Amino acid sequence: APGTPPDALPSYVGLHPGEPNVMEPELLNDPYAGYGKLREQGALVRGRFLDDSPVWLVTRFDVVREVMRDPRFINNPSRLPGRTEKDPRAQLIELFGIPDHMARYLVDTILTSDPPDHTRLRRLVSRAFTARRIQDLRPRVEAITDELLDRLPAHAQDGVVDLVEHFAYPLPITVICELVGIDEEDRPLWRQFGADLTSLEPKRIGATVPAMVEHIHKVIGERQSALRDDLLSALIRARDDDGGRLSETEMVTMVLTLVLAGHETTAHLISNGTLALLTHPDQRRLLTEDPGLLPRAVHELMRWCGPIQATQLRYASEDVEVAGTQVHKGDALMFSLVAANHDPRHYTEPEKLDLTRQPAGRAEDHVGFGHGMHYCLGASLARQEGEVAFGKLLARYPEVALALPHEQLEEQERIRQPGSWRLRRLPL
Ligand code: HEM
Repeated sequence: APGTPPDALPSYVGLHPGEPNVMEPELLNDPYAGYGKLREQGALVRGRFLDDSPVWLVTRFDVVREVMRDPRFINNPSRLPGRTEKDPRAQLIELFGIPDHMARYLVDTILTSDPPDHTRLRRLVSRAFTARRIQDLRPRVEAITDELLDRLPAHAQDGVVDLVEHFAYPLPITVICELVGIDEEDRPLWRQFGADLTSLEPKRIGATVPAMVEHIHKVIGERQSALRDDLLSALIRARDDDGGRLSETEMVTMVLTLVLAGHETTAHLISNGTLALLTHPDQRRLLTEDPGLLPRAVHELMRWCGPIQATQLRYASEDVEVAGTQVHKGDALMFSLVAANHDPRHYTEPEKLDLTRQPAGRAEDHVGFGHGMHYCLGASLARQEGEVAFGKLLARYPEVALALPHEQLEEQERIRQPGSWRLRRLPL
């Protein structure tokens, strides 16, 4: 019942033979093999999701991109009143026991909006994330990185330091908090909010959401009496101007989305990417010998071991045929980025990490940041942080190595959760 969340997410595996639950532990154990197998079954695989709702898993690179830019697929299911399936977002909120008046902060985000709301929300924040603005931030990202790398030895115990705790998290959280305008003393709190929300433990999530919303209200309240040159102040101005460009709820949700999306994912790009480089000495050598390779290397690391493996659901707003399969109005679709990014129809030797891989098309030849209208707002920032982090870590500590055998590390520290690919710790 709402208000009494269970200790763990329920498992609904195996209720519909032939229709895999897309969150099945077997798939999560080895997602590259598991979702790869589904991809070879079809471009669209009929599966089950959460409390056994049907979902189409979109698996192949070209089809993922095609559907992601097709306006007939929408992100906000409440725009489909005829849909009989329960809104999965409502299911999650019920499961986590989040009170109704709090739920809206999680449900109505830029990512779950469609035009014209999406266009309005995206326009408000996109100016802060253009390639040019991000380039201007580079010296600051480099300085923060240098400072964190300087301090690494101080965190070592018996010569071993955890990169996740002392580098991969602090770098992006510092950068996004500076950009949004969250003061230094509040940043550990945000680290905790992120950890609670991604724990997928219903009780922790249920307790965190109200605390986080209250905190954001407090920060907004303080900032509105002394506006600064930061994104938070820009959002406050947008809320207060006559154009009605942003509601109070949308502002809270936007702050929450930017700070959480801005650090959780990037932290895992840094730790997954470092692990990949340390376990591929030939690729690591290429990169240390030619730092000019860094931008390409980050694209390839995003493809090969990107932190987001599946996206937000989309819904068909009308009957649509996709890759020869009939999708009906109201059907839910989920994109398997892990399957698409390793699709042999698009990449030669997809399982091989190759930092010199030549893109087949645009430079960013993967869907790790999504595609189309909802393409990651922070992609330029995340890529830049990756470039600076990998480049400086390898240059500063050329002897850096894993403190555990790779297999043992995967066994102990890999978090096997639906949709994400990340490490609890990375002892070096
Ligand atoms: C959207 C991945 C970093 C903010 C997305 C999407 C993906 C993604 C896959 C599209 C989801 C979908 O279509 O359902 C990543 C990865 C990152 C990263 C892998 C790091 C390696 C960031 C950063 C920010 C950010 C640093 C900081 C602002 C957003 C926002 C959206 C988004 C606001 C929603 C955009 C929209 O709906 O128009 N991200 N992201 N992300 N990302 Fe990122």
